[in-house]
Amino acid sequence: MKKIAVIYGTRPEAIKMAPLVKALQADPRFEVYIILTGQHREMLDQVNSLFGIVADTDLDISEPGQTLTSITTKVLEGLSKLLAEVKPDGVIVQGDTTSAFAGALAAFYQQIPVFHLEAGLRSGNIYNPFPEEANRKLIGQIAALHFAPTEANKTALLRDGVAEKNIAVTGNTVIDALLYTANLPGDFDDPQLLEASRDSARQIILVTTHRRENWGEPLANIAAAVARISADFPEAGIVLPMHKNPAVRTILHEHLDGLDNVHLIEPLDYAQFAKLLGRAHLVLTDSGGVQEEAPSLGKPVLVLRETTERGEGVEAGNVKLIGTDTERIVAETTRLMRHPEDYAAMTEASNPYGDGTASAQCLEALWDHFNSSQA
Ligand code: UD1
Ligand code: UDP
Repeated sequence: MKKIAVIYGTRPEAIKMAPLVKALQADPRFEVYIILTGQHREMLDQVNSLFGIVADTDLDISEPGQTLTSITTKVLEGLSKLLAEVKPDGVIVQGDTTSAFAGALAAFYQQIPVFHLEAGLRSGNIYNPFPEEANRKLIGQIAALHFAPTEANKTALLRDGVAEKNIAVTGNTVIDALLYTANLPGDFDDPQLLEASRDSARQIILVTTHRRENWGEPLANIAAAVARISADFPEAGIVLPMHKNPAVRTILHEHLDGLDNVHLIEPLDYAQFAKLLGRAHLVLTDSGGVQEEAPSLGKPVLVLRETTERGEGVEAGNVKLIGTDTERIVAETTRLMRHPEDYAAMTEASNPYGDGTASAQCLEALWDHFNSSQA
């Protein structure tokens, strides 16, 4: 039996780790030890509670106004003693957050093999997204095994000099998580969402925004665009589950408070959010995970960023990169709202990120890796 420590700290890592943790727990070849950094708090706990995941250790590092330096140093210090005690045969980190990078580095310092879930995503611009592009490249330098969601991600890793035998193309576990939620019973908890979802004539525009490189003026431009869209399409319902970061919330409240058809709400738990994504007419977002989920549901997505590392959704036709200029956001949204043929061209469901079997494929690759390293 191989002892695997999983280390994660934010909402998107938790969502993408959850199916893998469940699969590891059910597999007699592995023993799993769950370490939370606590980089996020409420948004992390929401996901673990939905999936029934209980941590073995929680470093609980989060604090208001935390910085990249404070997250990195606290995670490194917390993990140094813990990993020496737990002595896992390997550590899995997910994606590109600072928890993932610091977790990988802490394991590397103790010569514990690092396995990277969602490896090989690249925008090609080290400052965008910041600091995620650097985080995932740095993890890529340390990792012993890379779980690449797509062939394009594998190509990027090969270009970085990673040996082919250390890459497994597995799909993205976010699709496993999305399909899991599809089978959960229940309706919307929020009465306004419940009412809007039952009114089939009401078009729902779903908006999320939180990216560090959008803090400040780009975020103000996005919020101004949402205010304009709300005035131009009074019959539509705009739902904006707000990230917990006060730097994000202050700007959203400034521009959007008091607008009748704009519903500014707390972060939804993942099952509720997935349900809302399924009900949405159109999505405006700077999120990475939402860009991966929406194509599976055939939802048009306008991405509020200058670059993306997720070109597969763009190629599939569901996703368009539009940046953060107010006029452009209003124009692209208006085009999709007013021109059914442009809208229809973005609604064919596609599965560039897999079919929901990524976790199972990761476990096979992991087992093969241990066996071939011993050979
Ligand atoms: C982090 C990741 C980013 C990821 C995002 C997902 C880094 C550097 N960034 O960014 O890659 O896309 O998570 O959401 O790793 N907060 C709470 N409660 C929570 C979560 C956050 O109060 O449950 C507040 C805190 O005030 C915190 C702030 O949000 O200081 C920012 O959180 P942080 O994890 O530093 O950055 P994110 O923007 O969430
Ligand atoms: N999500 C959620 N509740 C919300 C908003 C988003 O569960 O209120 C989910 C979403 O479905 C996706 C993930 O959170 O799987 C994306 O997280 P986020 O946008 O915070 O981070 P990113 O993916 O950009 O790193």
